[in-house]
Amino acid sequence: IKPEDFQRDLLQWYDENKRDLPWRRERDPYKIWVSEIMLQQTQVDTVIPYYQRFMSLFPTVKDLAEADEETVLKAWEGLGYYSRARNLHSAVKEVNNTYGGEVPSSEKDVKSLKGVGPYTAGAILSIAFNIPAPAVDGNVMRVTSRLLAIYDDIAKASSRKIFEETAMELIDKDRPSDFNQALMELGALICTPKNPACLICPVNEHCSARKEGVQDLLPVKSKK
Ligand code: ADE
Repeated sequence: IKPEDFQRDLLQWYDENKRDLPWRRERDPYKIWVSEIMLQQTQVDTVIPYYQRFMSLFPTVKDLAEADEETVLKAWEGLGYYSRARNLHSAVKEVNNTYGGEVPSSEKDVKSLKGVGPYTAGAILSIAFNIPAPAVDGNVMRVTSRLLAIYDDIAKASSRKIFEETAMELIDKDRPSDFNQALMELGALICTPKNPACLICPVNEHCSARKEGVQDLLPVKSKK
């Protein structure tokens, strides 16, 4: 694969076809952070109204930090996985107290926040701060495993490093925010788990799995 050619084709498609999602109109790192936490275990269509309501209730770090836990959990009701809301609330208080309300932009500091793992840290650094950082979730592992015919088991923790290194080799250093969102968008709209739309895929020329006809065998995912 030639990363420059892949980036050009992927970003051209993204520029023309991306969905207009509420958090894509924002660059406030706090808002990107909240959206990524909500999107972790919940579908985009479900998240949208919750995200909008949450942002009108708690428009800034300070608003969320000063809210009662009960009010925050009430706003989360229906999204499930309430530990996400508790960890987010606790981490937002930490940002308010320790970082003067500004979400930190160093990898070390952002990863130290409660509930912010490698994926969320990479998403915040790249999407909000436009820093070239890998944001590897299930979607990105699926897309890149096919693109480069990587057979490492995505259910294994040890595979993360491989996929992060791969993502760093592919990322557009001039447009890391758009690039990472474009990979997610490709995974959501084209490079789907079942019946990927290879015929209309904007990067099918670059895809090893398609060349070898193995797109339905990837990613490799063992049952845990
Ligand atoms: N899934 C996880 N993060 C996302 C984002 N920023 N946009 C769309 N889907 C996502």
